[in-house]
Amino acid sequence: MDPVVVGISGASGSVLAQRAIDVLLNKDIPVIATCSAAARMVWQEEMEESFSSTLARWQESPYFSYCQVGDLKSSIASGTTPTSGMIVIPCSTGTVAAIAHGLSSNLLQRAADVCIKEGKKLVIVPRETPLSPIHLENMLALSRLGVVVLPPAPAFYLKPNSVMDIVEYIVSKAIGALGLSGFMDESLRYQRRSD
Ligand SMILES: Cc1cc2nc3c(=O)[nH]c(=O)nc-3n(C[C@H](O)[C@H](O)[C@H](O)COP(=O)(O)O)c2cc1C
Repeated sequence: MDPVVVGISGASGSVLAQRAIDVLLNKDIPVIATCSAAARMVWQEEMEESFSSTLARWQESPYFSYCQVGDLKSSIASGTTPTSGMIVIPCSTGTVAAIAHGLSSNLLQRAADVCIKEGKKLVIVPRETPLSPIHLENMLALSRLGVVVLPPAPAFYLKPNSVMDIVEYIVSKAIGALGLSGFMDESLRYQRRSD
């Protein structure tokens, strides 16, 4: 299977990125990850485990590889690299803006730009509140290009017992939105619980 690219940007919600990559690797789905400088700062604020420790744990998997966000020579900067699409989780409003305007000023933004130009699935998980007209217009522009805009909004009707319940739900929706076989079922499982 072609790898899923996971971009981690500097919005609140580092745990979403941690869980998304854990879930993919647990299913032996190859992952190529990149993480912005701001995302590392947020990670330090929000997480018990340091980013370096988490990275070291992921790197024990033969299915995982990591690219520095400044390394524009990495494979995912090129449209010739086969991938199963990309998730930006969490996605800052700055990265939303950069992707919407094709800035490609770091590897994460370039990899997202490549997904759009190559017609591959791109899922972004933007976290900000409230949303300004700038944020909304950028998200609308991306949605019109076929990008899946999937805010980390809890499904209150599922009566989550913990933050991790919400995280599992969002991660399953985000991975499900990539259209990978097997994961559609995962995200539908959550929807059925509400029937
Ligand atoms: C603790 C912390 C939490 C943040 N939370 C958010 C957030 O939820 N959403 C957002 O758009 N930016 C948030 N920011 C601001 C971004 O990190 C900042 O705009 C940064 O430049 C984004 O860079 P990046 O898109 O390259 O990761 C946060 C910053 C810090 C330090």
